[in-house]
Amino acid sequence: MTTKQRILTGDRPTGKLHLGHYVGSLQNRVALQDTYECFFIIADLHVLTTKPTRGDIAEIPQNIRDLVLDHLAVGIDPNKVTFYVQSAVKEIYQLNLIFEMLVTVPRLARLPSIKDMARNANIDEEQLPFGLLGYPVLQAGDILMPRAHLVPVGKDNEAHVEITREIARRFNYLYGEVFPEPEALVPEVGTLPGTDGQGKMSKSAGNAIFLSDDPKTVEQKVRGMYTDPNRIRADIPGRVEGNPVFAYHDAFNPNLEEVNDLKERYRQGRVGDVEVKRKLLLALENFLAPIRERRAHYEANPRLVDEIIAAGNERTRAVARETIRLVEEAMGLTYFR
Ligand code: TRP
Repeated sequence: MTTKQRILTGDRPTGKLHLGHYVGSLQNRVALQDTYECFFIIADLHVLTTKPTRGDIAEIPQNIRDLVLDHLAVGIDPNKVTFYVQSAVKEIYQLNLIFEMLVTVPRLARLPSIKDMARNANIDEEQLPFGLLGYPVLQAGDILMPRAHLVPVGKDNEAHVEITREIARRFNYLYGEVFPEPEALVPEVGTLPGTDGQGKMSKSAGNAIFLSDDPKTVEQKVRGMYTDPNRIRADIPGRVEGNPVFAYHDAFNPNLEEVNDLKERYRQGRVGDVEVKRKLLLALENFLAPIRERRAHYEANPRLVDEIIAAGNERTRAVARETIRLVEEAMGLTYFR
């Protein structure tokens, strides 16, 4: 009998994960898996809010496998975490529709995240899909379906957890106590800059080092990294703050003494960029080695990932059926069954 609190978190399956994802969410997930009962949703229906074509959908299955594989590679234990695909748990559709009655259109329309997503997808205001406006409502369905207590998310998703809390409160007020009011767990860590130093690491900006990059690719990316542009010679004092090479040292080099020594010499103009990058590459390779090893294990037996997903879907459906039973009973939505 488990008395652990429940976590629900997840991602849209849009591609391979990179070092920024590791810093922003994966490392936190690895740490939480022992303490909580964890459900990780692979939110494929959320992808459809901006990418609904047959071509878009055709990319989803591979993205799902890559997403799960990246999690397993960094040390998520499939015996501790339940992975499941959103569209495979039809109860989420049901919950979504009921929750649509418990939130107002203006409340959703005010959210900056909706406008951001529309802008990023080149959708203008007049063409805003109903489903994109409803993105946070569907997310509330994701979170409340397993009756989760905690939701680890990035800052950009905090408002969606707030909507979820409002929906839970409204439901419980109207029909009786069914849902916990889940809390967002937003990590303190800052975002990791891209290799170009021009903003945060992201796939679309082309400034990412992926967890699945091979050693040669990582080496090329580290060599080409943006540093202090004013430093045309190694004997010119350099800037450590805002320098992505040092941001990566801080995130991935556990040897604090070495990092502090490099920073000091960099500020004084007593170390070349080449050495700073060489030591970063070593630190990154140490970090990536066990990740590659776990990945190789799963890649040698590709069935494993599919089986993990199928088992997770099954486990989640059992929880989902129970939630829908509680919901319909609380609402009196039990006639003519
Ligand atoms: N909105 C999340 C994102 O930005 C993905 C997501 C969908 C999610 N459902 C969720 C995150 C539930 C946490 C909990 O990609």
